[in-house]
Amino acid sequence: MSEQNILVTGAGGFLGPWLCERLIKEKKRVFALDIAYHPNSRIHEITGLSERIEADVNDYDQMLDILRTHKIEVVIHLAAQALVGVALSHPYETLKTNILGTMNILEAARYLKDFETPLKAIIVASSDKAYGDQDKLPYIEIAPMQGKYPYDVSKSCADLISRSYFYTYKLPITVTRCGNMYGGGDLNWSRLIPGTIFSCIKSENPIIRSNGVLVRDYVYIEDVADALYILTEKMLENNDLHGHAFNISNDSPKSVLEVVRRIIDLMARPELTPVVEDTARAEIGAQYLSSNLFREKTGWSPRFDFESGLKETIKWYESKYK
Ligand SMILES: NC(=O)c1ccc[n+]([C@@H]2O[C@H](COP(=O)([O-])OP(=O)(O)OC[C@H]3O[C@@H](n4cnc5c(N)ncnc54)[C@H](O)[C@@H]3O)[C@@H](O)[C@H]2O)c1
Repeated sequence: MSEQNILVTGAGGFLGPWLCERLIKEKKRVFALDIAYHPNSRIHEITGLSERIEADVNDYDQMLDILRTHKIEVVIHLAAQALVGVALSHPYETLKTNILGTMNILEAARYLKDFETPLKAIIVASSDKAYGDQDKLPYIEIAPMQGKYPYDVSKSCADLISRSYFYTYKLPITVTRCGNMYGGGDLNWSRLIPGTIFSCIKSENPIIRSNGVLVRDYVYIEDVADALYILTEKMLENNDLHGHAFNISNDSPKSVLEVVRRIIDLMARPELTPVVEDTARAEIGAQYLSSNLFREKTGWSPRFDFESGLKETIKWYESKYK
C-alpha cells in the first residue's frame, strides 16, 4: 500500500505511541492528536511524526478542521477516558468523551464524504468491556453489546454508533474490541500490570483491588499495534472488512492472582505477597475473547505469549524506574 496520511487520536496515551511508531516504520505519514501530552508519554520518544496536534475530540469544528487541513485519509480513533475507576467517579466526562468524541469523528467523516474528499478507513477502538456480562465465554463478535457500568456503556454505545455510520452512511468503519493490553509505557498505575511491576520495583506488596479471581484476557501492546496496522492495510485493499467488529486477544485468559504471581516470579521477588483488598465494585467475574474471526480475516496472530510479553514489559519499567 502507498503512503497515507493517518490521524491517530489519543496518541499520547498507552497504545498511541506504539501504534504511531509501527505506522511510521511502514512509511505512513502519522499525525498524532491528544488533548494533552503527559511529559513522560512515550510519544516524545517517537521520531518521524508528521505533526503532534493538541486538540479535544469533543470539539466537532476542530476535528473537521484537522481532517481537512492535514488531508487525512485514515483515522485510528483511540482517544477516550479509558480508566474504569475514573469512569465510576466521573461518568459524565467519560460518557461525553467516549460517545460524543467518537460521534464528532464520525460526523466529520460523514461531512467530508458528502461534500469534500471521503476518508478511506476509520478504525474505532471499542473494548471487550463493550460486551458487558455475557453467559457464553469466550465472547464472540455476534454477542450483543450490553455494558452496564459507565465505562462499559460508553464503549457499547460508541461501538453501536460507529457501526451504525457504516450501515447508514456507508462510511468505511471497522471497530476493534481488545482484551486488556499491557506493555511498556502505560503510565496508568491503577492498571494491574504496571501497578504490580511498580510495587515490585518499590519492594512493596502488590495490592489487588478485586477479589483476585476475576478472569481477563491480556494482549501485549506491540501485538495490538501490529493488529491495527494490518487491519488498516486490509481495510484499504478490501471493502469486505468495513462494518465489522473484531476481537483482538491472545485467547489465553488468566486470573488476576495468576498475573500478579507471574510478575512476582519473573521479577524474582519471592518475599512479596499479593494483598487482596476485594474493594473493587462494578466488575464482571469472567470476561475474555475469541479472536478467531480477526485471525481468519486478516492473518494476524500475536508474536508474544504472556511470558515473553511480560518479560519485555518488566524490562521497560525497570529501565525507566528502577
Ligand atoms: N488499555 C486497555 O487495556 C484497553 C483495552 C481495550 C480497549 N482499550 C481502548 O483503546 C484505546 C486506547 O487505550 P489506552 O490504554 O491507550 O488509553 P489511554 O488512557 O492510555 O490513552 C487515551 C488517550 O486519550 C486522550 N484523551 C482523553 N480525552 C481526550 C479528548 N477529549 N480529546 C483528545 N484526546 C483525549 C488521553 O489524554 C490519553 O492520552 C481507548 O479507546 C481504550 O478505551 C484499551
